[in-house]
Amino acid sequence: MDKKIVLSGIRPTGQLHLGNYLGALSNFVKMQNEGKYDSYYFIADLHALTTNPDPKELHTNVRHILAEYLAAGLDPEKSTIFVQSDVPEVSEMYLLLNMHVGIGELMRTAAFKDKARKALGITAPSQGDDDEDVAKEIIGASTNKRVNAGLLTYPTLMAVDILIQRADFVPVGKDQEQHLELTRRFARRFNSFYKVDYFNEPQNFNFGSAPIKVPGLDGSGKMGKSEGNCIYLVDDEKTIRKKVMRAVTDGGPTEPNQPMAEPVQNLFTILKLVGTPDKVEFFTEAYNNCSIRYGDLKKEIAEDIVAMTTPIRERILDIENDSAYLHRVLEMGAERARARAGKTLADVREIMGITKF
Ligand code: TRP
Repeated sequence: MDKKIVLSGIRPTGQLHLGNYLGALSNFVKMQNEGKYDSYYFIADLHALTTNPDPKELHTNVRHILAEYLAAGLDPEKSTIFVQSDVPEVSEMYLLLNMHVGIGELMRTAAFKDKARKALGITAPSQGDDDEDVAKEIIGASTNKRVNAGLLTYPTLMAVDILIQRADFVPVGKDQEQHLELTRRFARRFNSFYKVDYFNEPQNFNFGSAPIKVPGLDGSGKMGKSEGNCIYLVDDEKTIRKKVMRAVTDGGPTEPNQPMAEPVQNLFTILKLVGTPDKVEFFTEAYNNCSIRYGDLKKEIAEDIVAMTTPIRERILDIENDSAYLHRVLEMGAERARARAGKTLADVREIMGITKF
């Protein structure tokens, strides 16, 4: 029997941090090594174009992420690793699928509303979020800024990424669930319009356990790209120590077994992810009997992160400079990704009536 297909993409918008690694990448590697699935991991450079990045920066970011994927253990012999734009079939199918996608449903997606407002420099109304108002705001915005059509059709492109490889499982975070729901809807619509049973409905996938959320170092929320909140995989030891030692805490517990404030809870969550159970127990005990010194806790966390990321960082730096290797990896990936995509595209063209005389 054929293996089920797992596929996920990442937009090349900057370097990967510990949250990306623990929340996603390390799981990709685990799944790849289990060998139960056929996995496809790609860099969504066409999606990145929706925000009109600087061309040189875009290219550098693709290189970074590719090196980071490989350094973390994704293996081009076991997984298909590719760049979205290396598969031109995606762009053609994006045009075809767009004929069955409504601009209304695209305008109603949360990510679009959010990004469109950002592009126009307008803020969301504090109360409610009436879709009609959003449309009016966007169409009628009296500003010289614009919302590009690529941003609107972002979900079509993402659906094509998934459908063109006939993926069964798509490991993505909560923020992408709406896009995945749209993908299923487009698949059903295509099938029912052409009276075929061609696409199946891809499902999210969370590695058999609750998704891991890595908190940030600034006291609230999850690790993201904002300053002072995150550790990058390429951060050197000194930088890691400095960032962790500056993490937000509180004045310390004054009563035994006092509930933890969020910033302190966050540090414990990080320790659980990077440290050993006996350290977690030690510091929890120290917190509960009020003898904890946050400086010691942070030192422990910093050293555990250093131990986890140093080998990865060293590999990133090696791989990133090895253009010949990167070239080989992508050539291999593109070949495999195109073979599968080409087959789907040929079927879709035929189903839609684009056939040769
Ligand atoms: N939209 C995803 C994100 O921002 C990236 C992405 C593009 C993707 N195409 C995909 C993820 C296909 C999974 C499958 O994170």
